[in-house]
Amino acid sequence: MVDLHSHVLFGVDDGSENMEMSVKMIEQSLGEGITMLALTPHHMPGLYSDAMDRKEAYEEKLALLRKRFEGRIELVPSLEIMISEEMMDDLLEGKLMGYSGTRTVLVEFNLMDYPQYAENIFYNLKKNGYQVILAHPERNRALVEDPEKMYHLHDLGVLFQLNAGSLLGQFGKKTETFARELILKNLIHGIGSDGHKDRGRDMRIRHAYETVKELNEALYENIMENGPKLLKGEPVSVLPYKPWTEPVKVKKRKRKKKGLLDFLKR
Ligand SMILES: [Fe+2]
Repeated sequence: MVDLHSHVLFGVDDGSENMEMSVKMIEQSLGEGITMLALTPHHMPGLYSDAMDRKEAYEEKLALLRKRFEGRIELVPSLEIMISEEMMDDLLEGKLMGYSGTRTVLVEFNLMDYPQYAENIFYNLKKNGYQVILAHPERNRALVEDPEKMYHLHDLGVLFQLNAGSLLGQFGKKTETFARELILKNLIHGIGSDGHKDRGRDMRIRHAYETVKELNEALYENIMENGPKLLKGEPVSVLPYKPWTEPVKVKKRKRKKKGLLDFLKR
C-alpha cells in the first residue's frame, strides 16, 4: 500500500514539527502497512514556500529520514501545490516538482472555491506531459455542491486523491458521504493520509483502503496497482466513471431534546 499525501517532512509547514515527530509518523505508516510514502509539504506562496525556497534543507531532512528507515519504507519527495496561474511556468522552470521529481504532480484547491482558470491550467499541463492529481476533492465545497465539475476535470485527465481521514468523519458528515459516493462512481484514483501530526490528523490509512475494497472491489484493485506507478511518475489506466444520477443525500443529525434534568445540571 502507498500513501500519496503527507506532511511528514518536518519544520516546513503546518505538518510535523521536528524529526522526532516525523519518526513517530513514519512508524505509524509502517504499522498501517505502507511501503511507499510520499512527502508532500505545502507549497502556498505567501504562506508556505520553504520546501522549495530551501531545497537543500529539504534534501538534508529527507536524507536523515531515509537513513533512519533504510530498507523499511520508500520515502518519495514531492509537494502539495496550491493551484495558481503561475504554477505551470514554475513547474517548467523547475521551481516546483512532482513525485520523485517527475511530471506527476499533486495539486490542491482552496477548500471553498473552484478556480475558473483551473481547467485551462490542467489542459495545458496535460499538453506538456503532466499527470495531475487533485488532492482531497471531497473536501472542496464547490465540488460537493456540483459534482459535475469533477467529471469536467476528469475529462481533462485529472485524477483524484481521497483523504483517509474523510472516511473517519474528520471533516464532517457531508465530506464523508461525498467520499463514499466518489468511491462508488470510480472517481477516486489514489489514497493519502494527509497526515499532519503523530496524533489527531495522523497517518491512519488502512481503513480507507478497506472501505474502498468493501464498496468497490474493482476500484480497489485498480488503486492498488496504480499507487506505486503514480509515485514513480508512470502513466496509469483508470476505470471509466459512472454517471452521477442522484444528488448526495446527507442525513441530518437529530438533536437531543433537552429535558428538565439537563436544565437542572447547568
Ligand atoms: Fe495536505
